[in-house]
Amino acid sequence: MACWKILVALLVLFLLSFPLPVSVKAIKAVSLPLTNTTEAKVRCVKSERNALLRFKQGFTDPSDRLASWVGKECCIWKGIYCDAGYNVIRLDLNDRTNNCYWKKVGYSIPGNSTCLGGNISFDLLDLHHLEYLDLGGNDFQGLTTPNFLSSLKKLQYLNLSFSSLIGVPPSLGNLSNLQYLNFRACSYPYDNVERSWVKDLNWVSGLSSLKYLDLAYVNLSSATHWLDSINKLPSLVTLSLQNCSLHYLPYSFPNWNMTSLSYLSLSQNKFVNSELPKWLSNATTIETLYMVYSNIEGPISNVEWGKLCNLQKLYLEQNKLNGDISRVVEGLSNCSNPTIEV
Ligand SMILES: *[C@@H]1O[C@H](CO)[C@@H](O)[C@H](O)[C@H]1NC(C)=O
Ligand SMILES: *[C@@H]1O[C@H](CO)[C@@H](O)[C@H](O)[C@H]1NC(C)=O
Ligand SMILES: *[C@@H]1O[C@H](CO)[C@@H](O)[C@H](O)[C@H]1NC(C)=O
Ligand SMILES: *[C@@H]1O[C@H](CO)[C@@H](O)[C@H](O)[C@H]1NC(C)=O
Ligand SMILES: *[C@@H]1O[C@H](CO)[C@@H](O)[C@H](O)[C@H]1NC(C)=O
Ligand SMILES: *[C@@H]1O[C@H](CO)[C@@H](O)[C@H](O)[C@H]1NC(C)=O
Ligand SMILES: *[C@@H]1O[C@H](CO)[C@@H](O)[C@H](O)[C@H]1NC(C)=O
Ligand SMILES: *[C@@H]1O[C@H](CO)[C@@H](O)[C@H](O)[C@H]1NC(C)=O
Ligand SMILES: *[C@@H]1O[C@H](CO)[C@@H](O)[C@H](O)[C@H]1NC(C)=O
Ligand SMILES: *[C@@H]1O[C@H](CO)[C@@H](O)[C@H](O)[C@H]1NC(C)=O
Repeated sequence: MACWKILVALLVLFLLSFPLPVSVKAIKAVSLPLTNTTEAKVRCVKSERNALLRFKQGFTDPSDRLASWVGKECCIWKGIYCDAGYNVIRLDLNDRTNNCYWKKVGYSIPGNSTCLGGNISFDLLDLHHLEYLDLGGNDFQGLTTPNFLSSLKKLQYLNLSFSSLIGVPPSLGNLSNLQYLNFRACSYPYDNVERSWVKDLNWVSGLSSLKYLDLAYVNLSSATHWLDSINKLPSLVTLSLQNCSLHYLPYSFPNWNMTSLSYLSLSQNKFVNSELPKWLSNATTIETLYMVYSNIEGPISNVEWGKLCNLQKLYLEQNKLNGDISRVVEGLSNCSNPTIEV
């Protein structure tokens, strides 16, 4: 009897010597065996596993990046993250090695390409809990960005940057939980295809939770009221409209609403007859401002620099500005706690 008690005590001690698993939202159930699970032990939701397998069938995957998508325990497959209830909440198939990107921009790298391509199957809609979708850095070779993404109601994060998908569907404006939206150069190298040009930004005003918006290198040439639409996003922290072929830059803007905006890039646009906008004086939360090579003219004193007391980095080179640079320095040094670094 005593012998059993000692054994039990030792066993308890042994078990206690392992740290308790910390409960986190996205878990990788790494302790589960990959291939040898009996049906009773499988935690991945069957309908979601089947949806993922059909989704995978639509892909081309020359370097077999999805080799782990076999067996029944889909929560441990590469790029899949489940919540505590074993529902798939994240799908991250971004090629973080950048191999696909370098191949696309023309470097010859030996070995099979890591680009995923092919079709984006609507089986994705069977992942009812999906909050995070990253297909960025792949090569869908000019496939039209699927409209049905706007039905993924729980989506908080969507990254289709450098995916060679054509177009930004306005229906995405329905995704009111979205916090992160990245379409940076999404259509590269199909930027001259008319379907990749975005007519207006009216749809973004529906993205009421949005904090991060990157549409760099997307042709917004015909979007004239872009600032009015974006101004409906009071939570926005980061905005990049770099190289968007924007022509119109309002000089005055009476109702500045973006009181969280910290990063603004309007670089490499072809603004027509535009001066440094007076409304920047009201954008007092900005920390980083890029307005490089944007065809901006006129006096640098249009902005009351002394109001931009959070500014850390200011880039205005390659424009046609005039006036006394010391007005900028004096203004910024008038702040009670000057933050400027660059
Ligand atoms: C699978 O698991 C069962 C029960 O745990 C075990 O009996 C069997 O040997 C395992 N098979 C393989 C191939 O590991
Ligand atoms: C994608 O869909 C098209 C049209 O249905 C089809 O011809 C093609 O084979 C599909 N590609 C893959 C990788 O399944
Ligand atoms: C690379 O592609 C070739 C031809 O499609 C294939 O036979 C080979 O298995 C691939 N290699 C890897 C590591 O996927
Ligand atoms: C989004 O995708 C792009 C392209 O692959 C990548 O550079 C970027 O880091 C991704 N964003 C995040 C937050 O992972
Ligand atoms: C998006 O919302 C609009 C208006 O609220 C609606 O007409 C449209 O059907 C919705 N689209 C999707 C894909 O849910
Ligand atoms: C951008 O879109 C406009 C139409 O809005 C078009 O005239 C122009 O050629 C496009 N630019 C590029 C680089 O494709
Ligand atoms: C400011 O943001 C709120 C919230 O999105 C919006 O209702 C309002 O119309 C915006 N004001 C302006 C002037 O755009
Ligand atoms: C700055 O904001 C104030 C009050 O919101 C407004 O009256 C003024 O016109 C704005 N200035 C510019 C240059 O847009
Ligand atoms: C925008 O990007 C394209 C492609 O990288 C480049 O050729 C063009 O010069 C850029 N436009 C501006 C105004 O810098
Ligand atoms: C700096 O602050 C002083 C006192 O508030 C003010 O008179 C002066 O015009 C300010 N200078 C600049 C360049 O903003």
